[in-house]
Amino acid sequence: MRSALISRPVKSWALLGESGSGKSITLRSIMGLSRRYGEVTGRVMWQGENLVAKPERELRKIRGKDIAMIFQEPMSSLNPLLTVGVQIIENLVAHTTMDKKARQARAIELLELVGIPDASRRLDDYPHQFSGGMRQRVMIAIALASDPKLLLADEPTTALDVTIQKQILKLILDLSKELGMSVILVTHDLGVAAQTCDRLAVMYGGKLVEKGETRDVLRNPLHRYTLAVAIGAGKCGTTHAAVFVAGHAAQPNESTKRMCLRPALCARAARMCGTKTTA
Ligand SMILES: Nc1ncnc2c1ncn2[C@@H]1O[C@H](COP(=O)(O)OP(=O)(O)OP(=O)(O)O)[C@@H](O)[C@H]1O
Ligand SMILES: [Mg+2]
Repeated sequence: MRSALISRPVKSWALLGESGSGKSITLRSIMGLSRRYGEVTGRVMWQGENLVAKPERELRKIRGKDIAMIFQEPMSSLNPLLTVGVQIIENLVAHTTMDKKARQARAIELLELVGIPDASRRLDDYPHQFSGGMRQRVMIAIALASDPKLLLADEPTTALDVTIQKQILKLILDLSKELGMSVILVTHDLGVAAQTCDRLAVMYGGKLVEKGETRDVLRNPLHRYTLAVAIGAGKCGTTHAAVFVAGHAAQPNESTKRMCLRPALCARAARMCGTKTTA
């Protein structure tokens, strides 16, 4: 496994790529969780140090503290036998010097921060008493307990319906700005990535094939997969073309029927694609 992602202070990265392209294994490698499955080569630079070269004992001080991760399926990461309050407090015990009273107050604060109503009462509830979206918010609260500098979010919304997905992604990205925390967000939602993440990285076949400022990558995709995703994000020949060609979201007064520049690469190319006429 080779990795080549660099996270600068308070940046939001979207990591895209087809299924099996290596997104999850990249995030796990940043956390040092891939070691037991195979050899990790390359470098994961964190505050001037290469995490790949660090012994497990030292990595444990960083993992879950400075770098936290939220996983795709909250039920597999939350302990069904413990209240959410206990699970947040466990993290506070592990990573802070707060006393019992301060931990209790902080746990309530964290649940409030992620938008859980009636937080002080919900602290004593078990994961199954929360809806899917609320469970994902609890996962975020647990991850934030250690006040991480980098949050890795591996498709944190796949199991949720579309409206809730958008809310959770917005929450993660809002919190990142509010708390000064960088985020690497694995998502298939190019629309969200384009609107909210500063940078975009694309994986293909286990390799990082493209990375850069989101606007630049979308304006001029170098890799065929990126182009296909950019095209697939909308209907060929209509809105997407405006997004893709102009590199920014279509304005209300802008024609949405611009030409698609590279119809030969698009599975959805229509007859009008490749023409320069606008309607
Ligand atoms: N760079 C790599 N080095 C070694 N193995 C890799 C690499 N990239 C991917 N793989 C292999 O491919 C498998 C799938 O990769 P991974 O789970 O990271 O995909 P993914 O992009 O997260 O897919 P999905 O979108 O379905 O979650 C890994 O378990 C691993 O076996
Ligand atoms: Mg994955």
